Amino acid sequence: MARLIDRGPGCPTPTPLRAESAADARGLAYTAEVKAATDQLYPLVKDFITPMEWPAIAPLVHAINTLKAEKDAVILAHNYMTPDIFRLVGDFRGDSLQLAREAAETEASVIVQAGVHFMAETSKILAPEKTVLIPSMEAGCSLAASITGEDVRLIKQRYPDYPVVTYVNTTADVKAECHITCTSSNAAQVVEAIAAEWNTDTVILVPDQYLARNVAAQTGIRIMTWPGACEVHELFSAEDVEQLREAHPGVVVLAHPECPPDVLEAADFAGSTAALANYVGDHKPARVVLLTECSMSDNVAAENPEVDFIRPCNLCPHMKRITLENIYDCLVEMKHEVLIEEEVRLRAKAAIDAMLALPKMKAPLAFETGLPPRTIPMVEVSTVTA
Ligand code: 13P
Ligand code: SF4
Repeated sequence: MARLIDRGPGCPTPTPLRAESAADARGLAYTAEVKAATDQLYPLVKDFITPMEWPAIAPLVHAINTLKAEKDAVILAHNYMTPDIFRLVGDFRGDSLQLAREAAETEASVIVQAGVHFMAETSKILAPEKTVLIPSMEAGCSLAASITGEDVRLIKQRYPDYPVVTYVNTTADVKAECHITCTSSNAAQVVEAIAAEWNTDTVILVPDQYLARNVAAQTGIRIMTWPGACEVHELFSAEDVEQLREAHPGVVVLAHPECPPDVLEAADFAGSTAALANYVGDHKPARVVLLTECSMSDNVAAENPEVDFIRPCNLCPHMKRITLENIYDCLVEMKHEVLIEEEVRLRAKAAIDAMLALPKMKAPLAFETGLPPRTIPMVEVSTVTA
């Protein structure tokens, strides 16, 4: 496990590193007008940005919010964005499933994805008539990089009788080859629904081997998977949970299902980022630890000041590519536009639509914890991506 922070904001990036000149360099000054327009926002981030830093941040926040109105743009902010982005400029906030639904429904003509590239692609797939921008083309994902469309074609050749479910953390090319997508909010629902539709006891779930094993433990369905992993969540272990419980008696341990199965076995609750946030809001545990990306604790803590957060600081380097500065640049220059070949988009959309057509759940599904980890087979194909 990475560095543990017992008190205060968990993630030091990017605000303390941001020189005052970031706004200055863009000709944005902390004028009386900017001060008047942003004073009421400061309390939302007072635990993360010092009063000394605020004059360097406020002009960027004000400029972004002004540009959004001018360009008819909305910002979709994933739960892993730093609080300056999440709380000050995000219009819609949530997990992958919530952001996908917002992309499909928004009436704005421009979507800025404050998240990673596969999320921006999902928005473009669902809203092709809109301009979808991502502030950094380097905001990737270790899961999305672990598998290609060609890999899925080979899987389907080898296992023609089994449906292939892809976690949304994949490229449009991969989605286009799969029968249905899922997110960590609905993975068990999707796997059960597609197994019933295909009248099969076996489903292939790619590319996250840990999510697949965690879903297998929840359902009676035989699941085969792919050797992908999230570089952030695979760092957590059952020993970490044990050490946390020893060091912080009574701490409630919440885990994301991209964590290895022994972590879910040892945790008190598991679910998507939205499920974890809901759990804290609904149960108000006295002390809690979220085994997921670092900024998530900052964002949930800001909504739940009475809850004591222990913060394991595992940063997603891809999510952290998105900053206020590059959101501003992206809106000024209308870059980087995410485009998808129409034929690929239509096939990927079919896989996402199949997921969205399932009955809408009242809340993201929780993963039962305490279940013994299950070993499940990997698919066997002749090529494996690097
Ligand atoms: P959620 O769908 O739970 O937000 O997860 C997305 C993700 O990338 C987690 O690492
Ligand atoms: Fe991908 Fe993991 Fe980062 Fe989520 S946290 S975007 S799964 S690398």
